[in-house]
Amino acid sequence: MGGFKIDIGWVNLAYVVASVLFINGLKGLTHPRTAVRGNLTSAVGMLLAVVVTLLANGLDYTWILVGAVIGGLVGAVAATRVQMTQMPEMVALFNGFGGGASVLVAGAAFLIASEPDAQMTVSTGLSGLIGSVTFTGSMIAFLKLAEIMPGRQLGFPGIKAFNALMGLGALGCVAWLTVDPTAVLAYWLIVAIAAVLGVTLTIPIGGADMPVVISLLNSYSGLAAAATGFVLMNNVLIIAGSLVGASGIILTRIMCKAMNRSLTNVLFGTMGPSADGPSADDVYGGKVKATSPDEVAMMLETAQRVLVVPGYGLAVAQAQHIVRDMANILESRGITVEYGIHPVAGRMPGHMNVLLAEADVPYDKLREMDDINNEISQIDVCMVVGANDVVNPAARTDPKSPIAGMPIIDVDKARTVVVVKRSLSPGFAGIPNPLFAMDNCLMMFGDGKKALTELVHALKEG
Ligand code: TAP
Repeated sequence: MGGFKIDIGWVNLAYVVASVLFINGLKGLTHPRTAVRGNLTSAVGMLLAVVVTLLANGLDYTWILVGAVIGGLVGAVAATRVQMTQMPEMVALFNGFGGGASVLVAGAAFLIASEPDAQMTVSTGLSGLIGSVTFTGSMIAFLKLAEIMPGRQLGFPGIKAFNALMGLGALGCVAWLTVDPTAVLAYWLIVAIAAVLGVTLTIPIGGADMPVVISLLNSYSGLAAAATGFVLMNNVLIIAGSLVGASGIILTRIMCKAMNRSLTNVLFGTMGPSADGPSADDVYGGKVKATSPDEVAMMLETAQRVLVVPGYGLAVAQAQHIVRDMANILESRGITVEYGIHPVAGRMPGHMNVLLAEADVPYDKLREMDDINNEISQIDVCMVVGANDVVNPAARTDPKSPIAGMPIIDVDKARTVVVVKRSLSPGFAGIPNPLFAMDNCLMMFGDGKKALTELVHALKEG
């Protein structure tokens, strides 16, 4: 089957259209309301690019179609079956396969080229290097997130020096390949060294920092694709790869900024309680007040403005639907309900937006952190559901805290705060939260879904 070929002029025109669709798609992804359409727009652009690229080369399409059908089926099944909380793992796998594909495609193009020029050898070398680091790094990120591998920081003494040497060795091989384009061994050495480097760069990073690493690896997979675009001299691959490279690094920056940590600290540092920080006993001793669903129902009934601040625990408890039920009841009684969204609440970018969208919470009810902080003193009851670090006032008040300087949602400035969580256990940062001991704070202990279900019953009965 095959042999059909279209003219290069039409191919380039289609590539321009595909690139415009990618850029529009990315623009759509910047807001929850337009995100689904943005995703679809980019997917249509990618379909156009793939079809046109295949037709431009007059290939035998039989095996390509077999591969596309199998790959498409695996992707569709994975996408529909994966739980929202497993999304980072899935993105890690996709990034890794993107990097791996770049290594194979660039390598194959290089091997069949009769006289590779300097542009081809440099870009092949870079594609092999970045693609291979992305592949093995993403696999480690996947294993850590899926808890198949321990999430703690792993490694061996001198790992940083080892990584520096491996990095230099791989770059040396890229130089070797550039000087001697017939040195196929140099290419395989680049791929092999980079594969080890992907592992040794990722194992020392704690499991909880993996979302940032995945975003960075996403950027790398784009760079590898762009380098492969230069190997093949394929314009749309260069453009798409650059867009992924740039958006991945922007997202990485946003995540680091929202955690008030540098990328160096995420990649090479540690995150955890400092030894001289206050203990849980110091912070909570005799000051924590527990409440019940009935009591909270009474408080909510007299409120005018309620703010829900969701966190990682909402995802664990899968409490998004019951939160929405609670909001529906309150709204039917004329109470305003909004949602305060912290940029790194949960464990992946946009985690809370996705969960709330799943429960059909209208987008215009979601308020960004800075926006809602300006009005927080007007909130009568703030319901913190499974959030901890993102509402920890120590970030503002304790310069020695590991989260010092991290922007938070200032729920402690609301009139009353109700925190729904199972215990006084710390969140991701592993530190106590002075909010729980404040005068205006009440703890409604329990699993998020169960506690809110009881609250909804109490509201209905009240
Ligand atoms: P965390 O600070 O991690 O706190 C989550 C809280 O949820 C825990 O204290 C836990 O307390 C509670 N919880 C767990 N299961 C629950 C359940 N079934 N029902 C009710 N509560 C439950 O979450 P956060 O406030 O969302 O902050 C996110 C943290 O992750 C930040 O430190 C952020 O820097 C970090 N981080 C985020 C990202 C992204 S991109 N979002 C990436 C990397 C790191 P109990 O055990 O007492 O219930």
